[in-house]
Amino acid sequence: MMETDRTIREIERLKAARRAVILAHNYQESDVQDVADFVGDSLELSQKAAATPAEVIVFCGVHFMAETAFLLSPEKTVLLPRAAAGCPMADMITPDGLAAMRDAHPGAAVVCYVNSSAAVKALSDICCTSANAERVVRSIPEDREIVFVPDKYLGRHVERRTGRSMVLWPGFCPIHARLEALDVRRARSAHPGAEVWAHPECRPEVSDAADFVLSTGGMVRRARETKSATVVVATEVGMLHRLRAERPDVTFVAASEAALCTNMKMTGLRDVLAALETMRGAITVPDEVREPAARAVARMLEVG
Ligand code: 13P
Ligand code: SF4
Repeated sequence: MMETDRTIREIERLKAARRAVILAHNYQESDVQDVADFVGDSLELSQKAAATPAEVIVFCGVHFMAETAFLLSPEKTVLLPRAAAGCPMADMITPDGLAAMRDAHPGAAVVCYVNSSAAVKALSDICCTSANAERVVRSIPEDREIVFVPDKYLGRHVERRTGRSMVLWPGFCPIHARLEALDVRRARSAHPGAEVWAHPECRPEVSDAADFVLSTGGMVRRARETKSATVVVATEVGMLHRLRAERPDVTFVAASEAALCTNMKMTGLRDVLAALETMRGAITVPDEVREPAARAVARMLEVG
């Protein structure tokens, strides 16, 4: 038996023994996606984490995702197989920075992208993901000022969709920021007639050049219905595996191979196995942070 098959068999055996579930983000390595019980976007994964009867969640993604799972299910053991897998955008805002912004905008509602630490969520009124940011912003009374953190590009996209102007924190995803409108134009001329999808973490000029601006979950749903034979995708390249699994008859092309998130690629099958063997890598958050942070996430889940 090949080494990989042995690893997969062992993961399956330990998963049952530990009453564990494996959740993986759409950007994970393909073999990790294939071993997961559920693959999805940030919103879908947090909904799964909140609802699973499993006692252990092995979260194949980056730190804030596993942390969000713990916020929702503190009675469960949430394992992040690679402790170093973080999100550079989440690190662009600190609790002190947000506290200063709140002081400068008293009375404003703080909407916090889920790509943030629990300590930042704890200072926020409501969270959002790229799938529901628009709905979350629309749920806030029109006369209330809104502070949106930390992704300025997602914030700008939501401003344009809702017509609400917001105070934006100047954070961004360094991976999506590598994508340029020129990449989209080049891809369109190389693949005439192809549909182009962009993630809302992209720069506004990239989103403007696309036909659809979608969360990774939105891309999966669009894949199920597209009539286009070729689709150009402006997001992290791991998405291609997920989309090809969904629609093998469609040709999915990356707008740029440069959009590769090394944090999302840190976790391998052996790390998943090691997490289940050792039960090391459990994420915890102290109650005084967890409770307000969980409230902000729960409010988001109520909006849906
Ligand atoms: P989605 O919520 O669209 O999956 O985007 C998440 C993300 O930024 C992961 O890096
Ligand atoms: Fe963070 Fe961007 Fe990587 Fe997502 S793709 S984990 S937002 S750095």
